[in-house]
Amino acid sequence: MSHIKTENLTYTYSAGTPFKITALDNVNIDIEKGELVAVIGHTGSGKSTLVQHLNGLLKPSSGRVLLDGEDIWSSKEKVRSTRFRVGLCFQYPEYQLFESTVYKDIAFGPSNMGLSEAEIDERVRRAAKYVGIPDEMLGKSPFDLSGGEKRRVAIAGVISMEPEVLILDEPTSGLDPAGREQILAILKNYRKMTGNTVIVVSHSMDDVARFATKVIVMNDSRVEDSGTVDEVYENSAHLSEIGLSVPQVTEVFIKLKKLGYPVSEKIYTVEQGYSELMRLFSERGLLK
Ligand SMILES: Nc1ncnc2c1ncn2[C@@H]1O[C@H](COP(=O)(O)OP(=O)(O)O)[C@@H](O)[C@H]1O
Ligand SMILES: [Mg+2]
Repeated sequence: MSHIKTENLTYTYSAGTPFKITALDNVNIDIEKGELVAVIGHTGSGKSTLVQHLNGLLKPSSGRVLLDGEDIWSSKEKVRSTRFRVGLCFQYPEYQLFESTVYKDIAFGPSNMGLSEAEIDERVRRAAKYVGIPDEMLGKSPFDLSGGEKRRVAIAGVISMEPEVLILDEPTSGLDPAGREQILAILKNYRKMTGNTVIVVSHSMDDVARFATKVIVMNDSRVEDSGTVDEVYENSAHLSEIGLSVPQVTEVFIKLKKLGYPVSEKIYTVEQGYSELMRLFSERGLLK
């Protein structure tokens, strides 16, 4: 059964004014429990608007959002509980750190969930560990941390609510390669350890190829395509038309194929590229 699903989800900003913008137009997505989903698409395609509907932050202009088969807007209690069950981490979440210590920032979410002090403490420490924030950093001011550390503290603030669905809007943007790797490892780990669903908005086709079990492509307020990485990336020409470029390593293999080398074009990560070249070298007796 689907874990989270939308049915003809449509959303208009500034409805009833001359500035109205339809940011989502009959969007249907269907996500199973435990998937690691990437939402990709060019800027302005509707990605952030879509994920803000999944935890009830925005209310559909029409259509429905279902969590475990139930409309999240069916009652006040339902939408409130959805906000705890579906955790959303905004883009550049470090700008929303505001407490005097890292500990308090991570504890903010669970503090609103009616948990005991002991439970809150356990969750804060567990979440900090998840994101690689050591205990001695918990008493510091968030403003004394590096950019990458702040980002991880902000993510811990959502993870500490232990959401069944963890959503992150462009969690690696603005980070250096090492910082990006750390974040991607946290997401994969959260899914592996909890079996929960993770949804990541990303514009890096390279990153997505390495982690996603399912890809949803947004284009001009609609779902353009969805499926596994292989299914979606296959049509590289179409992806470029809608402003998305396949990973550089994929381009290299497409060119090699055109040049007559017997290689697969379905190479989406550097690791896959390495294996494919090694296979070719070995076939030709070039590996001694
Ligand atoms: N608060 C807002 N008010 C009015 N229009 C908005 C607002 N937020 C986003 N939009 C518009 O909605 C469309 C989709 O935006 P968004 O969901 O942010 O896309 P993405 O995350 O893919 O860049 C864009 O045309 C954007 O300009
Ligand atoms: Mg966005």
